[in-house]
Amino acid sequence: MSKINDLHPTFTRFAVEPYTPTIGAVIHDLDLRQPLDATTQAELRQAIAVHEVLFFRDQHITPQQQVDFTRSFGNVAEVKAFFPRLENHPEIEIVESTAERPKASSNWHADITWREQPPLGTSLYAQVIPASGGDTLWASLTAAYASLSPAFQAYLETLTAVHTWEISGWTEYLLRKDASGDELKAARAKYPPVEHPVVRVHPVTGKKVLYVNSTFTSHIKGLSRVESDALLTQLFALPQVPEFQARLRWAPGTLAVWDNRSTQHYAVGDFFPQHRKLHRITVTD
Ligand code: SIN
Repeated sequence: MSKINDLHPTFTRFAVEPYTPTIGAVIHDLDLRQPLDATTQAELRQAIAVHEVLFFRDQHITPQQQVDFTRSFGNVAEVKAFFPRLENHPEIEIVESTAERPKASSNWHADITWREQPPLGTSLYAQVIPASGGDTLWASLTAAYASLSPAFQAYLETLTAVHTWEISGWTEYLLRKDASGDELKAARAKYPPVEHPVVRVHPVTGKKVLYVNSTFTSHIKGLSRVESDALLTQLFALPQVPEFQARLRWAPGTLAVWDNRSTQHYAVGDFFPQHRKLHRITVTD
């Protein structure tokens, strides 16, 4: 994919309102119920690469319209095994928390970094929003990397990290689902740990991005356990810095799309026992 030469591209098909100076933008003047032409889709791909997470307000769309819109950013496929699917829409995962089963992804992560080719992005569309709470935060790992001193950046660029779903709670989940351990064994065989550079180059912006996350990165190759833990503790703290973050207050009709290559996200688990439900679609290259 070619790099964006102009990191302040001009948008002709919609208005872009920066959400913070660092990360996020609200996209205005676009009706997601309508098919989008090639220019609009290309501008959306530029906007997400530059702003890293896009927010669309007051969009009232069907599941199929969410699928069609999300295709503007890449391929939409069934890529995850562990979340419930919407009936007749295998591309749509249901992210839901109820009084009986309260849960939220309250841990900083990029999606599915335990795959060789993690997804490019994700769209998340509000279905049921608590009266208060249940916000989502995104952090720019481009900004986090840029904040480090050149000598430390240079050291990080020499390192490789190991990523695995096994440290994220899914081992316990699979054992609860199937006490025989067969499902866990199958998942281990299908998805062994993978390696990624600690610093990756974003394929569109050409910017360097810090690519470790506390949910899926188990250790740094070639360092002792003590060294690896100490370094990762320092790096895992970076998404928690408010200056690198955007925090979204959801409302009915809100849709967010984020770049999974340059951000991490965190769902604030402060709304229980209220009901919260969103529809999520994963975008691949
Ligand atoms: C996710 O981690 O993909 C879900 C985020 C959210 O529930 O806000």
